[in-house]
This record gives sequence, structure tokens and C-alpha cells, in this order.
Amino acid sequence: MFKCPGCGKPMKLPLCLICGRKILYTDGIYRLTDDPYIINGESTGIKYIGFEEIGEYYSGASFFNQAVIDEKCRNIAKITGGGTLLDLACGDGLYTIPLLGRGLSIIAMDISDKMLALLYKRAENSGADISNLVVCRANALDIPLADGSVDAVTAISLLHLISRPEAVIGEIYRVLKKGGEYITFEDRPGADIFSNKNLSAGEQAENIKYSEITDFIERRYFKILEEEHGISRTRYSWFFDQKNICGEIFDSKKIYTVPIDSKTRNILKDSYLYRMRGKGYSNQSAVPRDIHEDAFRRVMAEFTELYGAEAPDTGYTEYENDVEITVYIK
Ligand SMILES: C[S@@+](CC[C@H](N)C(=O)[O-])C[C@H]1O[C@@H](n2cnc3c(N)ncnc32)[C@H](O)[C@@H]1O
Repeated sequence: MFKCPGCGKPMKLPLCLICGRKILYTDGIYRLTDDPYIINGESTGIKYIGFEEIGEYYSGASFFNQAVIDEKCRNIAKITGGGTLLDLACGDGLYTIPLLGRGLSIIAMDISDKMLALLYKRAENSGADISNLVVCRANALDIPLADGSVDAVTAISLLHLISRPEAVIGEIYRVLKKGGEYITFEDRPGADIFSNKNLSAGEQAENIKYSEITDFIERRYFKILEEEHGISRTRYSWFFDQKNICGEIFDSKKIYTVPIDSKTRNILKDSYLYRMRGKGYSNQSAVPRDIHEDAFRRVMAEFTELYGAEAPDTGYTEYENDVEITVYIK
């Protein structure tokens, strides 16, 4: 079901019987591409941001609501009802790990070795059966799978990182079997996290403070970068609307609503500041490390002066309710 990176013909890992190419397999990961971690050059006509440098700063200390993710994964498994699922741009396994042990064979692909190594370690430590998990270094713009080879695809929080997201959707369509499902959530980072729904007055007031603080840090940091170094935020397809393009390509779609009613409180120092300090946001990807260190140190000094030493303990409370899962069917 794989596609040989050498001759492009269907193959089984690790050896292509047609051209004789053997796929390197180290530390639990098949290396199906040599493409770079990040491409930001205009010359190639295409850009993407792999998370090699971001690594462990992606998940942070307390960013994601595990109960909500588990519930989404339970529903993804129910919707697919078995077969092979490709988790494209799986990252450190935020969704891949809770999908294990739910009757699916999973192929986890990402361009970043670091993220894949984190995923593999988490999978091993999860206690789940990983005999149905294949982990691969691969580029979403040229998925190393044969046409019509998988039953379902997820590509969670990927499209905004690529300058040509429609090319990725074309690849997803190609590798799906007839009747196969592309399972999506909204792909817009930071959507609606400050919604006031079901929050107490105290939580709302704290959220406003949190928002003011993060705005301050963001504004000052990128102002220093712009004015002193000519470096801007890296953003490619944040507002890409996949509905139209998927509507044109796929045969039909179904929408499922997953009932969720959950609150999480994150603390600034463990979430936003942890990730920002580590250069863990994709929009920091063009910032050289030494320039980042200097800018972040200066911004934090201003921040402490203005908001006080206790400010990093500010929290924000996120209320999540019913998640919509859209399934595009080939
Ligand atoms: C925001 S993370 C999402 C990870 C995971 N899906 C999740 O929801 O937690 C985006 C991931 O996309 C990967 N990525 C970016 N460009 C890619 C490409 N061209 N091919 C494969 N993976 C890519 C990054 O390395 C990163 O791990």
C-alpha cells in the first residue's frame, strides 16, 4: 500500500520489489522522504513549517484538554468503524495515541523526526498494542502511499502551516479508497478560546487579563523583530477555508456532532509562556534562536515591570462544547 519514493510504484515496507529500494528504518520510524523540515524559500513556490525545532514545546505543560481529545478520538474510531487510518501530520501523537487500541490500523506521518520520536516514545509508554501502528517520516505534499490505499485520513492542525493546502487535500483524496473518509475539525488555530459561554464572572475577568497580557507580549516581541531585524510572523494559510475545496473534490459529506461539555483552566507560565519562550509557535519559525532569546528576555523584563511578578500565574478558562466533525467521503 505504500508508494516507493524511488520509482513511485506500490510497495510494501521496507523493500520495493520493483526498483530494489530499501526504506531506512530507525528508532521505530520509516524514513520515506529526505525533504527538509521547513521550506520557506520563495524559489520553490511552496512553503511549509515542520515542527522539528518546536518539538516538546508543542504540547507544553497543560495546553490541551485530554478528555476532549479522547472523546473526539472515540468518535473518529466509531465513524470509521475499523480499517486503516492515516494520521497525516501526526505531530507528537496528540490524537494518534488516543486512537490506538480502538480497532484501527494506524499510519502516522509527519515531516519532523523530533515530533515522530516523541510520538513513538508516547506510544511505547501508553501500554496500548502498537503492532498496528506504522510511523513514517513523510511529506504531506507527496504522501508516500499508493492511490486508493487507506480507509480514512485525519490531518489535524496541518493545513494552516502549508502555503498550498489544496495540494495536500488533493493528496488526501488520492490515497483514500473509494468510499474512504477524510475526517476534519475546524482547522483554525486559536479559534474561539475566549468565548464567555458558561464562564463565571471571575473566569471571564481573568480571561480578559490573560488576553491583555498575551497581546502585550505578542505585540512587543514581533515589534522588536520587525523593527530591529526585519523579521515578520510566519503565517501561510491561517484563513484557508477547506469547505469549498473539499466540497468540489469529494463526492459527499456528513456532519457529526460530538457532545462535549468541558472546562479547562491553563496557567500562563505553563502554557503560552512555556511555548513562546521555547520558540514553540509556528509563527516564530523564521526567528533565529539568538535573536529570539534577546527579544524574549527584553519583552519579559518590560512585562514584569508592567504587570508584576505574579502575572505569569494568571490563568485562562476555556469552555468547550459540542464539537463538529465533518467527514468528506470519496
Ligand atoms: C500543529 S502540529 C499538529 C500535530 C497533530 N496533528 C495535533 O493535532 O496535535 C502540525 C504538524 O504538522 C507537521 N507538518 C508541517 N508541514 C508538514 C508537511 N509538509 N508534511 C508533513 N507534516 C508536516 C509539523 O511537523 C507538525 O508536527
